[in-house]
Amino acid sequence: MPKFFVGGNFKCNGTRESIASLVSTFNGAPAFPPSVDVVVSPTALHIGYVQDNLRKDMSVCAQNISTDAGFGAMTGELTAEVFTGFGVNWTLTGHSERRRRLQQRKRGHDENSDGVSEKTQLALKAGMSVVVCIGEVLSDRESGKTLDVCFEQLAAVKDKLLLEDWSRIVIAYEPVWAIGTGVSASPQQAQEVHAAIRKWLMTEVSADVAEQTRIIYGGSVKPATAPALIECVDIDGFLVGGCSLTADFIEIIKAIPADFDEQRRAHLKADANSIQSIGADGKLAKM
Ligand code: PGA
Repeated sequence: MPKFFVGGNFKCNGTRESIASLVSTFNGAPAFPPSVDVVVSPTALHIGYVQDNLRKDMSVCAQNISTDAGFGAMTGELTAEVFTGFGVNWTLTGHSERRRRLQQRKRGHDENSDGVSEKTQLALKAGMSVVVCIGEVLSDRESGKTLDVCFEQLAAVKDKLLLEDWSRIVIAYEPVWAIGTGVSASPQQAQEVHAAIRKWLMTEVSADVAEQTRIIYGGSVKPATAPALIECVDIDGFLVGGCSLTADFIEIIKAIPADFDEQRRAHLKADANSIQSIGADGKLAKM
């Protein structure tokens, strides 16, 4: 059973001083349960400091990588190889703030679904693990297109992956309307989409990949909302933005039960609901 995964996305935040202070807050927290992987994404400029100074049971993750590969004449780019050469073995791809804002400014050709899948493939090729971010905007949800949008974003990535690549993929479901708004998706809203994604993995990739791939939730996760989300059988972790910049990040991690693996296993056994709750037509059945 894969570990619960907690990612912290610092986005474009932090000064020398604030990052040093955050690292010292994290370092001062008690040991994490063995059932959790914790990864943080500082800005590329802060990665070196964080990596050198952060406790060793937390890893560092890039926020983005170039669509170019290798080393060479690519001024301003940061390729997967630059990161792995520095010991950074995780990256996010497809965060909605990149997909959306860069597209709006009409220079986001490398942030559409093809670009995101290309970056994912480059990262894997360089030996990285990848948190692939997907999710719908509010108008998609309101017009009943949530799953269409998520599956389209996932399909583009899937088309470029080999079966064995999936062991290095984490899927972050982040409804755009819940990011940075303070309005987290309800546990039921999140669980429904996570279950649908798992079902999609089962039919489009394999039963094994559906079982083993972590599907994490992001969007205004806070210490107050985390416990109910952790209870959901298809939520395997979080991607935390705002709260990763404060001691709240530690509070969120503390909400994960030390015996999370056992609880999840028991849950799954007692309630083989989640995957079966999606109809053969791919639509959500009543849960
Ligand atoms: P948030 O951000 O927790 O501040 O909503 C989540 C994310 O963007 O990954």
